[in-house]
Amino acid sequence: MNQRSLGLIGVGTMGGALALNIAEKGFSLGLYNLDADSVDSLLSSAGGLEKHLWKADSVETLVTKLQPPRAVFLMVPAGEPVDATIAELKKHLAPGDTIIDGGNSDFRQTQERSAQLQKSGLFYLGIGVSGGEHGARHGPSMMVGGESEVWESLRPMLEAVSAKFQGQPCVAHLGTDGAGHFVKTVHNGIEYADMQMIAEIYGLMRDGKGASAQEIATLFSRWNEGDLQSYLVDITAKALTTIDPETELPLVDVILDKAGQKGTGRWTIIEAIRMGQSASVIEAAVGARAVSSKRNIRLAAASILNDKIRPQFEVSENDLESALRVGRILGYAQGFRILAAGSEEFGWDLDFAKIADIWREGCIIRSALLNDISQAFRGELPEGRLILSPRIYPKIKKHMPGLRRVVAGAISAGIPVPALSSAVSWYDEVRLGRGTTNLIQAQRDFFGAHGFQRLDKPGNHHGEWHLGQSSAV
Ligand code: 6PG
Repeated sequence: MNQRSLGLIGVGTMGGALALNIAEKGFSLGLYNLDADSVDSLLSSAGGLEKHLWKADSVETLVTKLQPPRAVFLMVPAGEPVDATIAELKKHLAPGDTIIDGGNSDFRQTQERSAQLQKSGLFYLGIGVSGGEHGARHGPSMMVGGESEVWESLRPMLEAVSAKFQGQPCVAHLGTDGAGHFVKTVHNGIEYADMQMIAEIYGLMRDGKGASAQEIATLFSRWNEGDLQSYLVDITAKALTTIDPETELPLVDVILDKAGQKGTGRWTIIEAIRMGQSASVIEAAVGARAVSSKRNIRLAAASILNDKIRPQFEVSENDLESALRVGRILGYAQGFRILAAGSEEFGWDLDFAKIADIWREGCIIRSALLNDISQAFRGELPEGRLILSPRIYPKIKKHMPGLRRVVAGAISAGIPVPALSSAVSWYDEVRLGRGTTNLIQAQRDFFGAHGFQRLDKPGNHHGEWHLGQSSAV
């Protein structure tokens, strides 16, 4: 397939940075933005790269100036703006052209848009782009969904602009239609879990041990030199040392404790639950942001429900490190289970080792652990479960006692650790040979005659609950 000529709509923070990245790799790119001034300021600050960039005054001009087959990146906010831009583009594009959505779109919308555009002979790529503004400018991790022939035609450009891990591009075609956006959504779910667990450790240090922001930063910096090495731990240490110029206090100490969220974490758990997967660590992280946003209620409850627990938290820094190490593994493990369920349901045949590979650089959850995960998916994997990989389970077993001590200490001190405690409970649940749902089956049969299976013989059975006996059906 011919090299496609490229356009980009939406030069906001991410779009503008991606445009400069594409230009820097020597590709010519037409730019359109609803507010034309933004294109002018991007061009004037392009530092020599403007020779690869040109401005279009309308979507129509952008399309007509590009040679078919064209590929137009949409870097506009997810949802209605994507649909509105597609509707406008459709008027001018020709069969064989491609629209690329590089936003955080709901993968279900990507599936629908892809099917719709196919009817007009247009291709659609849904690309999850991770790494924030810096990543978009200098090399993001990119998760691509769509037709493989279009991927092949755009591959040289996408590989050129992507992040590199030991020389390998952090971009891959993962499956058809919504596969890329689905994987990006789950990436964000893992991101939420990791951020929450880091914040919980911060809370234990601050409220349980009375540590200053600077002291906590020192701890995270040290951890970042070892197995916990990751972008999120690194930026946490840096954020904690940043001083507010107005008050000269650590900036984190003057930030309101209300977390925002745009939806990807929530979508991850909605899909997980719908597909019968437990994503309790991710769910705890999404829930914690929701609770944090209701500050008035928290403030009222803080005075009424103050039960005078003295937060005495005696757990060691080594245990805190262990807690984060094992919590992180379990957060990732839940994420990969959701990916496996989605792959099966939507027939994407996702390559989990490859996903771990392209998350090793450029994206927000990049971490040393992903190297182990990548190798774990290429080795022995009982029941397809990451936590049973010989590369992974020894780490879990080694650090679990630390996580237990941290969670026990936090609960005794009344300091919330929703994600870390969910991680422990999930671990204890999934390794339980004999669980307690035999009793739930009994209750269900008792009140609704739903039937149950027995350990000692096949078939569906009922209890004669009023007689205290069972009977086969
Ligand atoms: C990334 C990030 C990016 C963005 C999230 C934040 O991978 O680069 O995930 O996509 O930071 O959308 O999401 P919230 O606003 O929901 O925290």
